[in-house]
Amino acid sequence: RPRFGGGVQIGLIMNTLKTIKNAIVCFVLLPRFLVAAVMFWLLDFLCIRKRVFFRMKEQEGDAIDPPLCISDSNRLFSLESLKAVWHGHKLDFLKAAHLGQVAPNTEVVQLEDQRRSRILDYAQDKRPLILNFGSYIADSLVVYIEEAHPSDGWMSTDAPYQIPKHRCLEDRLNAAQLMHLEVPGCLVVVDSMENSSNAAYGAYFDRLYILQEGKIVYQGGRGPEGYRISELRDWLNRYRDGLERSSNQVIHV
Ligand SMILES: *[C@@H]1O[C@H](CO)[C@@H](O)[C@H](O)[C@H]1NC(C)=O
Repeated sequence: RPRFGGGVQIGLIMNTLKTIKNAIVCFVLLPRFLVAAVMFWLLDFLCIRKRVFFRMKEQEGDAIDPPLCISDSNRLFSLESLKAVWHGHKLDFLKAAHLGQVAPNTEVVQLEDQRRSRILDYAQDKRPLILNFGSYIADSLVVYIEEAHPSDGWMSTDAPYQIPKHRCLEDRLNAAQLMHLEVPGCLVVVDSMENSSNAAYGAYFDRLYILQEGKIVYQGGRGPEGYRISELRDWLNRYRDGLERSSNQVIHV
């Protein structure tokens, strides 16, 4: 009996479990991925794209939500775009963050001094903390994650900057610096290079959350289609109304 037999066996079991898990993930995600792929393929016919976006604009409820806009020159159906969509679905499926449950306290890097900190470090007392993942609009803590449209991946000519995939933390900090210029005065942190916040929160391409007392009290949909500032506003309004009802002190929101 070889000395490392036990270790090898555990390794084999772990590998088998990993393979089974991957197979389940593929099985569950395949239908929605195929639907997205067909949608992308159809939307590359400009006549269909125009009609769909026109229809969406008509139905658009809230002007506060960022509209989906794609220039005619941007092709949707490509290997890179399909890889990105698969990645997004997978992160969403495997994320640790769920409404009403404990908020994952993942590591992030502060833009200002490159100090490592954790997401819940930014929560003050019982006040809700808004997490705004990977986007150019900011309310509270902006967590800059991996680029949704890197110039060397699923490139988009509509992106305000052309940024290649981050190869190291410095790349990511530099890119976040550009974002910070767009929204000065708001707190920006970046995800670690292990992308742990992105994974825990299923944040890719962009996503909104509200944490309170270490728990997730609002979980927005997967961006871009699920990225709804109106939902965030409604939550905050309800929260403020609740506060006003429960006490008569003056509240500044
Ligand atoms: C994190 O994301 C970057 C893309 O910005 C990627 O290059 C890197 O491989 C990812 N890290 C891990 C551990 O997956």
